[in-house]
Amino acid sequence: MRARLVAGNWKMHGSLAANARLLDALKAGLERAEGLGYAVCAPFPFLPQVSEALSGSRIAWGAQNVSEHDSGPYTGEVSGAMLKEFGCRFAIVGHSERRGLYGEDDSRVAAKFIAAQRAGLEPILCVGEALAQRERGETENVVARQLDAVLDVAGVAALANAVLAYEPVWAIGTGRNATPQQAQDVHAFIRKRIGASDRALAGNLTILYGGSVKANNAPELFAMPDVDGGLIGGASLVAEDFIAICAAAQR
Ligand code: 13P
Repeated sequence: MRARLVAGNWKMHGSLAANARLLDALKAGLERAEGLGYAVCAPFPFLPQVSEALSGSRIAWGAQNVSEHDSGPYTGEVSGAMLKEFGCRFAIVGHSERRGLYGEDDSRVAAKFIAAQRAGLEPILCVGEALAQRERGETENVVARQLDAVLDVAGVAALANAVLAYEPVWAIGTGRNATPQQAQDVHAFIRKRIGASDRALAGNLTILYGGSVKANNAPELFAMPDVDGGLIGGASLVAEDFIAICAAAQR
């Protein structure tokens, strides 16, 4: 059975005091479950706090971005090696907010994916179409292009140490989630496309759904056969909501 994961993407939210409360509640509330992992992806300055709070717990942590460079004159950037020093397991790459608001194109996302792995991090690679693209029937083309950009440079074998996240842009922060069938269709498409190169690897690949996952819609989304958990934005900031979503991912 492939690994399942529920990861919180805190985005640019939090404070030392609020994080301390949230982390305490998660440590107390998240139950050990066979085959299911938990993670929170925090803003960079909070990583020491998160690392200290979660060390030795069943919850992993990660960053929301990583530089494609290992070191050098890149003001404002953070390298994978730096994230490793704070115990990060994951780094989100290619989130649609990075692609859309900060101009990260497919080739930069691919470079970040490789840099994360070079540092020993597991990238959580986000792909997903915008609303207009879905309405034009381009969903599979867009997702295939985003995926292939990484596979072309990293090679399919690299996905053995990565997580994929399908996040339709129109579902992020809008309260409008993809229907379970819409999510399943794209997840199955992703798995099939990767399976064409490496069937066993595709079968073991964890593919998360992200976009307005809440406690009330998580059970039906996570019930789909190719949905292996979620990447959770807003609801990951509320302990009881995140815990309920994690419970929905238990098999
Ligand atoms: P929301 O859950 O707030 O829609 O955000 C999803 C997301 O972007 C996770 O990376």
